Amino acid sequence: MMYTAILPAAGSGTRMKANKNKLLLELGGKPVFIHTLEVFEADPACRSIWLAVKPEEQRIMEEEIKRFGLKKVYGLTGGGKERQDSVRACLEAIPACEVVLVHDAARPFIRQGTIRRLAETAAQEGAAIAAVKVKDTIKKAENGLVSETVDRDSLWMIQTPQAFRYSLLLEATRSANEDGFLGTDESMLTERLGYPVRIVESSYENIKITTPDDLIYGKAILEQRRQEEY
Ligand code: CTP
Ligand code: MG
Repeated sequence: MMYTAILPAAGSGTRMKANKNKLLLELGGKPVFIHTLEVFEADPACRSIWLAVKPEEQRIMEEEIKRFGLKKVYGLTGGGKERQDSVRACLEAIPACEVVLVHDAARPFIRQGTIRRLAETAAQEGAAIAAVKVKDTIKKAENGLVSETVDRDSLWMIQTPQAFRYSLLLEATRSANEDGFLGTDESMLTERLGYPVRIVESSYENIKITTPDDLIYGKAILEQRRQEEY
């Protein structure tokens, strides 16, 4: 199933404390967001890539895209204050298509196989999101005292990509915007309209580069993959 990719890349990376956008930090000789773009570049099912960027970072990002010879980045749109605004800017800019797939530029270890399953499931069912099972026991607590142990079997940690029929995500995004509703992921926007969302099991390696320790895990994942290639 062919899809159009939307990659929000207009954050500040405040939790990384690197005094620049974490996506521009190098990981194994390439900026973080270039690793992410390369996965989509190499996927024949990806029609085009749309990147939401901060206006002041547009030039540096374009230069990096050129330096690494990427050809599928079709459009760069101005990012918004919140991630949801950045995704909306891209969604309003792309041509109508069957399936859109939203993926954090900060998740460079996504696998093509997961992307494919998400795009196919979204085409069939409307919405599909990447997730992994919760590994730890989860408890609720109030004032430091345990109030409840939550049944782990029904809990999932949600990642991106999140794939949707284009018309569905557009409707959900416009509706959230009109209502002033801010979600933490795209799925929430479709959930609130009552649409079903299918979980697609992903990998624990699909981490989001968020805090400085994630760069250490990231290097380890890269090293492991390089060894697998030999
Ligand atoms: N993002 C975006 N526009 C925003 C905020 C975030 O496009 N207004 C993007 C980020 O660039 C990142 C993805 O959304 O690729 C996930 O966001 P997150 O990991 O929270 O990144 P930041 O917001 O940059 O980091 P922080 O929250 O630590 O400031
Ligand atoms: Mg953020």
